[in-house]
Amino acid sequence: MNAITVNSAFEQHFSTAPDITVRAPGRINLIGEHTDYNGGFVLPAAIDKAIWLAAGKRSDGRFAFYALDLNDNYVSDDADTVFQDRHKWANYLLGVISEARKDGLHIGGLNVVFGGDVPLGAGLSSSAALESGTMFILNELFQLGLSRMDIVRLAQRGENNFVGMKCGIMDMFASVISRENTVVRLDCRSLEYEYFPFDAPGYSLVLCDSGVKHTLVDSEYNTRREECEEGVAVLKQYNPGISTLRDVSLELLKQHAAELRPVVFRRCKYVVEEIARVQLACAALQRNDLATLGQLMFQTHDGLNLEYEVSVPEINFLVEKARENPAVLGARMMGGGFGGCTINLVETAGLEDFIETTSAAYLSKYGITLKTYPVKLTAGTSVIS
Ligand code: GLA
Repeated sequence: MNAITVNSAFEQHFSTAPDITVRAPGRINLIGEHTDYNGGFVLPAAIDKAIWLAAGKRSDGRFAFYALDLNDNYVSDDADTVFQDRHKWANYLLGVISEARKDGLHIGGLNVVFGGDVPLGAGLSSSAALESGTMFILNELFQLGLSRMDIVRLAQRGENNFVGMKCGIMDMFASVISRENTVVRLDCRSLEYEYFPFDAPGYSLVLCDSGVKHTLVDSEYNTRREECEEGVAVLKQYNPGISTLRDVSLELLKQHAAELRPVVFRRCKYVVEEIARVQLACAALQRNDLATLGQLMFQTHDGLNLEYEVSVPEINFLVEKARENPAVLGARMMGGGFGGCTINLVETAGLEDFIETTSAAYLSKYGITLKTYPVKLTAGTSVIS
């Protein structure tokens, strides 16, 4: 899949050339998991797996979308953006249109064809790429004058308010704002960000896709958010300046441990420590200390598994295999949890052996053929033609 395939599908489908073609990438996150909705730091990057969208205006005010990979069509009945049950994927496009209109932005009729190679359900944020890519196109075609950060926020609102997943800002941010060969640290409280070159000759980032997708992921995700908020509500009584876990120190949290439900204490402890780990990871990157970065990734995994409790046995198994392998500097579950991928920082010389041995062990333990994706860090959403 690439821009050429999507463009020619557009021409076939709508008998005209598209006005614009956009590449909207998926993302990884090096470290900083479940910190975005807690006002903390994340360290994501866009990758060389993307969704391409070809689009053109139409004069009747309707929306016609074609999902190339699914060979499925959506056409709106009128100029309204109606929640779609039958074509669930269309909600990602309709959501951003609906949110943009709430802001009084003028959006006319639109044809879109899209397709890509971001594996679905693997935690690489294909939905955020689709939402951000759609918003990016709307901005260009209808000359909305939005900044990249405006696009990020509207895409997140589409997911939160229309699709109904209360995700944080990280995925859309990474898809839109990233630069080649860098990771970007976002302060999710102030929305300030800084690029850190990820320049690691001799090392590779590789994702291991567990092939597991837990159906509870959305509800569990929202529960984690509520547990964090419960912790904040208690701690706020002692310091009204606290509005998210970003404002909480480990010391304060421990002081009030007895007033928190044990599960809430565990969740909060993980988040407070994870926010600090992102800062340590950035410092390690700056001095090119990949060994420390790797250790921090393992620590994150332990926290996600034991304290935040969002891992699953298959993912733990993959991380344990990575831990046993001398070529691996660090590994952890990546993304929201309950399946998806692990991210592994591996010496390139030992990469082939790592993939082979981990795949064989995974197949024999779970009967699942492991998919692995070595990733390159790429620029964020951009116009291709
Ligand atoms: C999902 C959400 C993100 C973030 C991660 C966990 O990917 O969409 O906003 O919260 O989980 O770090």
